[in-house]
Amino acid sequence: MKRITLYFCFLFVLWAGSGFAQNNEAKVDSLMNLMTLEEKIGQTVMYGGGWSVTGPTTKTDYVKYIKAGSVGAMLNVYTAKATRDLQKTAVENTRLGIPLLFGYDVIHGHRTIFPINLGLAASWDINLIEQTSRIAAEEASAEGLHWTFAPMLDIARDPRWGRISEGSGEDVYLASVMAKAYVRGFQGDDLSKNNTILATAKHFVGYGAAQAGRDYHTVNMGEGELRNVYLPPFKAAVDAGVETFMTAFNELNGVPSTGDKFIFRDILRGEWGFEGFVVSDYTAINELIPHGFAKDSTDAARLAMLAGTDMDMMGHVYRKHLKELITDGKIDVNLVNESSRKILLAKFKLGLFDDPYRYSDEKRQTETIYKPEFLKVARESAAASSVLLKNDNKSLPLDRTKTIALIGPLAKDDYHINGNWGGAGDRQGKSISVFEGLQDYLKANQILYAKGCDILSDDESGFEEAIAAAKKADVVVLVMGEDHGMSGEAASRTNLKIPGLQPKLIQKIREAVPNKKIVLVLMNGRPLNLSDEVDQVDAILEAWFPGSMGGSGIADLLYGAYNPSGKLTVTFPRNVGQVPIYYNMKNTGRPIPESNPTEDYKSNYIDAPNTPLFVFGHGLSYTSFEYSDFKLSSESIGFEDTLTASVTVSNTGDVDGHEIVQLYIHDKVGSVTRPVKELKGFEKIWLKKGERQTVSFTITAEDLKFYNNSMQFTVEPGAFEIAIAPSSDFKFEHGFILN
Ligand code: NOJ
Repeated sequence: MKRITLYFCFLFVLWAGSGFAQNNEAKVDSLMNLMTLEEKIGQTVMYGGGWSVTGPTTKTDYVKYIKAGSVGAMLNVYTAKATRDLQKTAVENTRLGIPLLFGYDVIHGHRTIFPINLGLAASWDINLIEQTSRIAAEEASAEGLHWTFAPMLDIARDPRWGRISEGSGEDVYLASVMAKAYVRGFQGDDLSKNNTILATAKHFVGYGAAQAGRDYHTVNMGEGELRNVYLPPFKAAVDAGVETFMTAFNELNGVPSTGDKFIFRDILRGEWGFEGFVVSDYTAINELIPHGFAKDSTDAARLAMLAGTDMDMMGHVYRKHLKELITDGKIDVNLVNESSRKILLAKFKLGLFDDPYRYSDEKRQTETIYKPEFLKVARESAAASSVLLKNDNKSLPLDRTKTIALIGPLAKDDYHINGNWGGAGDRQGKSISVFEGLQDYLKANQILYAKGCDILSDDESGFEEAIAAAKKADVVVLVMGEDHGMSGEAASRTNLKIPGLQPKLIQKIREAVPNKKIVLVLMNGRPLNLSDEVDQVDAILEAWFPGSMGGSGIADLLYGAYNPSGKLTVTFPRNVGQVPIYYNMKNTGRPIPESNPTEDYKSNYIDAPNTPLFVFGHGLSYTSFEYSDFKLSSESIGFEDTLTASVTVSNTGDVDGHEIVQLYIHDKVGSVTRPVKELKGFEKIWLKKGERQTVSFTITAEDLKFYNNSMQFTVEPGAFEIAIAPSSDFKFEHGFILN
């Protein structure tokens, strides 16, 4: 191309960004008119810079491809300087100077790390979730990132699946509410501001239902279950304006997601009107081959493009094959035009044509990351996300005048505490361990520390020291759990026990100090099987992986500066054989009769109860709450009416605290059976000791809708049960009729 043409193109790009009497769509159209087919294909290609490894490494000479105009986006590159340098390579070496999009897995924080998402969900605090994702976006955008691959919206009911840690748990309603909060937090209300980033609803769809909890495994489910359980959080994200979607690795009913026209073209775009772009998961287009769905990589590119996958993450297949597929008439050029258009539109929305470097500002980076106010939110969120599972005889909070034996492989840890997908969070030196957090409450000589054992090893040599410390101290605090790599992607387990020798150490300590108070603080990325430990310790505080300020948040809880308020959003089984187990199951034709729980020929196990160890919605507080005065505005409603259900909640204990008040319904008879309980609302309230409050929820016919067997989203008249309760462990006593 002659220099003069280049000059005009450059002028065009300046003009395109200027906002001169054009909206973003028109600007994209003008730009598209100037682009060659190769350049359009270039927009659909994403490569990785290798700063973080988030998949099988595929080495790519990405600088060469960027200079050739064959790359539209990069992942795994961050910091203001690195993104600026690479952006410069794209803008200054390509004919049209189209800026790159920088994406990264900002999952539960970028530099300041918040609790893992399953933990954040346990706070049931929508504002907190929005606030943490806002902070994540502030930090990420200050380091040159335009786009996060979050939130993960996969409903997960199988704790063997390591990625259960990345989502909001097992419930459809809760996950949908959280989905919106995440999107609002990341994207803000104006994408053209340089502190907002594109969010990604992932993984579309069904990934959490992987057979046997094994990552990437096959998923089979009826369309009813898909629509009633797995799709709603994604629909909620679309309603909240999410800009991008990511495909899933799994196949769904025989069709790998990345090649699934039905979910992307028919449902996402057709039914829901989604207008953003879809990125494949990491090499997921290539994986259509081992799935047995595509013959070769050309075929894989064809199928993915036909299905509506706009961008190829790390796969090289779009770059290599799209042109030939168009020339051979195997795909319509308009498909590629559409994909390219949508990606460019996102870049215009972000203002990258105004200034491609607007996110890559070193001064802003220094001023923004790890701000004290962000760390404060991290501390609060660690406390708000923790769930007090057990607290016999008010073992917690602890007395500051006593000595504690602080034992366990995670007691001094500042590495695993950030959990999987710890973003760019500093894993060494920046995060506060439990040991450090306790310094705010205790003098050095009040803490007798002993590691005891590793998370995973068969070395018992530390047992003696730990037992000696336990004997000497007034109270024992154990900090145990999983290694951060034991959950997250490619981290499925068949055994849900606390790993390694830790259970044995707990048992030995209990034997050594039979009458001493033992508190177990857990860090882990999934529900664990705590059936043995629950009887050996006096209190259990589930802290998940609590993030940068985790140790301080935990110390605040242990000493009562923060009253525990988290409640489980996922069921804890008694053993792995009960999995999948979740509160909103179906009744079956042979439910266990209350009057005769051991009756034969019922839907039960012969070696374990049906009930879990800890139910969905469970979580204790240092105070107690009483629910009274349940009222319904009417015993029957019409399709246009609104029903109000209310209850009085009283703080009957000695301290102030939060309570998470939950609304459940049960549709008793349907043309397709409905779950025994369904969460339909919740409110987190703050009550001072002695205070009471009336909490009201409204229900309309819209809230009672579900997909029937003809895949109509409908509500059926009939009898419903309703309850307002502190957890999912209750029996319905009230009802209403819809007619
Ligand atoms: C694979 C994971 O499944 C996905 O969630 C993530 O965003 C990508 N890798 C990029 O790191």
